[in-house]
Amino acid sequence: MSFLTPRLFSLAKLITEGEVVADIGTDHAYLPIYLAKDGKAKKIYATDVAKKPLDVAKNNIASFGVADKVETILADGIQWTISNEIKLDSCIIAGMGSTSILDILKHDNENIYSYVIAPNTNLEPIRSWAKKMKYFVENEIIIEDNKIIYEIIKINKFAGTKIKNKKDIIFGPLLQREKNNKLFLQKWLEEEQKLLNLLKHIPKKDVKYKETLKKQKIISKLLRRRILINE
Ligand SMILES: C[S@@+](CC[C@H](N)C(=O)[O-])C[C@H]1O[C@@H](n2cnc3c(N)ncnc32)[C@H](O)[C@@H]1O
Repeated sequence: MSFLTPRLFSLAKLITEGEVVADIGTDHAYLPIYLAKDGKAKKIYATDVAKKPLDVAKNNIASFGVADKVETILADGIQWTISNEIKLDSCIIAGMGSTSILDILKHDNENIYSYVIAPNTNLEPIRSWAKKMKYFVENEIIIEDNKIIYEIIKINKFAGTKIKNKKDIIFGPLLQREKNNKLFLQKWLEEEQKLLNLLKHIPKKDVKYKETLKKQKIISKLLRRRILINE
């Protein structure tokens, strides 16, 4: 399917054979259509809070002949899963900011086994939430799509890698272990530069200065080790 962007394709790769999946904020429903066509997912719920995109989704689903596998739901976030008999193996939340995703995650419940999350902003607040909620990291990917670097995470309630500390929250417990990941290095070199510039414009007495300086130091330390020691 040529309309599946590298980012959406990476999300699809994190779905395991035979899963029951929900795509929250599906918009055009390209991802659910791909998952249905590919035969990977057993059933996909394509949801959106807005009627307009969901109508487009319905049309696309019908055009691709996958209405037997993809069901559309007009709903805000994941509340609809709470009093439901459906058990979701994976719940995808992508293409929104971290704040909106965290709002949706307030309704996390036992009917959802795992989440595949790809914010179009920072993944750090999501990892922080996952640590607090004792989620395990199953997979982490960093990709470039249309000159934007995205981090994607799959977390679940039962098995995987723990998020232990601030370093894990910032860099990801799995991504930081990858040797020679050029995109990872590029992302954090750019972030370091951004923070160094920001520090020039925040008064030193400001609380934000301390926080920014602390983060910049953590990033610079990791980068120095990577570049100098090739750790
Ligand atoms: C930019 S699109 C992202 C589409 C697709 N998920 C992607 O990653 O390309 C965001 C979509 O999320 C929907 N959305 C925003 N907040 C939502 C919420 N709380 N619950 C369900 N859908 C939501 C919007 O209506 C919009 O269609």
